[in-house]
Amino acid sequence: MGKTALVTGGTRGIGEGISQLLKAKGYDVAANYGGNDEAAKAFTDATGVKAYKFDVSDFDAVGEGLKAIENDLGPIDIVVNNAGITWDGPFHKMSKEQWDKVIDVDLTSAFNVTRQVWEGMRERGFGRVINISSINGQKGQFGQANYSAAKAGLIGFTKALAQEGAKKGITVNVVAPGYIDTEMVRAVPENVLEGIIATIPVGRLGKAEEIASMCAYLASDEAAFITGATMTVNGAQYIAG
Ligand code: CAA
Repeated sequence: MGKTALVTGGTRGIGEGISQLLKAKGYDVAANYGGNDEAAKAFTDATGVKAYKFDVSDFDAVGEGLKAIENDLGPIDIVVNNAGITWDGPFHKMSKEQWDKVIDVDLTSAFNVTRQVWEGMRERGFGRVINISSINGQKGQFGQANYSAAKAGLIGFTKALAQEGAKKGITVNVVAPGYIDTEMVRAVPENVLEGIIATIPVGRLGKAEEIASMCAYLASDEAAFITGATMTVNGAQYIAG
């Protein structure tokens, strides 16, 4: 029987690339999305991957969504916690709402999803959890105190869970993308983005497929000994270590 993978935020941007590649590799893929029905429909029409709408920052809504996916595709073996938003602004202008929203969607979501598939993974003795962090969770970014905190939080979450999953056949890893050519990055003011691209030694934005290929590797059986790791995919913009 094929393995089932859930990609949160899986119908657009990096998530779309991950959903597509996992499907091409033979997984049964469920793509979650939060709000953009039109994009989700276009994605499903183009890829044949079914999209499931639920708010990853709402624990109970996640529970319902997971139930629907498991009814359709069976137990979830692989989770890619990819859903995320930005709401940038310098800290002296950052509202409580701006902080809470980004922490809830980018960090608490990983708890909401992983917690509700974790026991099943333990029982079956297999699991792959891949948390999509960011270069800005590794190095910090002016204007992103909320996002950098959430994305750094995912790294700590991963390191703890990797230790808990190790004896149960569950690996837990981070992929930390640099600046990838998606709508999220294109929303950065053009002059600011130009300055950022100038700091990328490879000389360009990354592509969603270049993140997807790392995720597909981490999902594979060959990656069984990689756990608790942070895989940096950023064109040498920031070399963490
Ligand atoms: N470093 C130092 N100073 C900076 C700065 C930086 N990177 N960016 C802005 N400033 C300074 C400005 O020069 C200005 O200084 P003065 O007051 O002395 O003139 C001050 O900060 C405030 O600037 P603004 O009034 O323009 O601030 P703003 O409210 O318009 O907000 C910003 C600016 C939203 C933070 C804007 O700089 C920005 O969008 N920066 C990019 C943030 C970023 O990289 N986001 C990544 C989004 S993509 C993503 O997150 C995906 C991923 O994982 C990589």
